[in-house]
Amino acid sequence: MSDTAAYVPGGAQGVAAPGAVRPGAGTVPGRAATGQGGPGTGTRTLLRPARPADVRAIAELVQPYSDRRVLIAKDLISYFEDVQEFTVAEDVATASAQAADGSASPGSAIVGCGALHVMWDDIAEVRTLAVHADHLGKGVGSALLRELVERARTLGLQRLFCLTFEVEFFASHGFRRISGTPVGTDVFSEMVRSHDDGVAEFLNLARVKPNTLGNTRMLLQL
Ligand SMILES: CC(C)(COP(=O)(O)OP(=O)(O)OC[C@H]1O[C@@H](n2cnc3c(N)ncnc32)[C@H](O)[C@@H]1OP(=O)(O)O)[C@@H](O)C(=O)NCCC(=O)NCCS
Repeated sequence: MSDTAAYVPGGAQGVAAPGAVRPGAGTVPGRAATGQGGPGTGTRTLLRPARPADVRAIAELVQPYSDRRVLIAKDLISYFEDVQEFTVAEDVATASAQAADGSASPGSAIVGCGALHVMWDDIAEVRTLAVHADHLGKGVGSALLRELVERARTLGLQRLFCLTFEVEFFASHGFRRISGTPVGTDVFSEMVRSHDDGVAEFLNLARVKPNTLGNTRMLLQL
């Protein structure tokens, strides 16, 4: 096993057991999300902060979902600007070593991503949470979401918002459906100055209503 990130073996089928993400150990601030076959065989999935070099892979991962209007389509420049909000799940062949500079090795692939976007002093949004179609249902999305929730707690936030079609998934992580915008009029009038489409969706502004059709507004109390 490489000493560059924590590894927690998955279940018998190589999928993540509940709570398979544990606070980072190792020299890279990574998390182990899922594993296949254990150290020395197959692949393992690590969670780590996204780097600029991951942006194109994130954009490719998101594109099928943005094409279906499940997620907001974004230009590459937006991903670069927001890269520090992102955590990625990276599948790494257990036999392959990570490069000394920490960059993704040729045998690795970004299989999931998720971002935490702070919107006010007590609230942030979980956005662009996406798992590659070949890796759905293995616990990667849950691992990413738990990581984002943990980061929100570390930041001292009290509420996490999301706008999603994946109601059961978020409900299983404690999110509850809400209606309306959970901020007062003073905060609303400040937030409306944002140029960010996600904030506009949070505020339910008319100009982004077509983006939000069919989505459910959900909130997690931290
Ligand atoms: C939502 C999303 C991120 C979930 O990713 P995922 O990796 O499939 O999530 P998980 O595997 O952790 O959980 C999905 C389901 O599989 C189940 N599951 C988790 N691990 C499992 C395993 N090892 N074996 C079988 N099933 C498993 C979970 O119980 C969960 O069921 P639930 O929805 O009833 O709670 C993914 O569906 C996605 O990318 N959707 C499109 C983008 C989107 O809508 N994002 C949310 C808005 S930002």
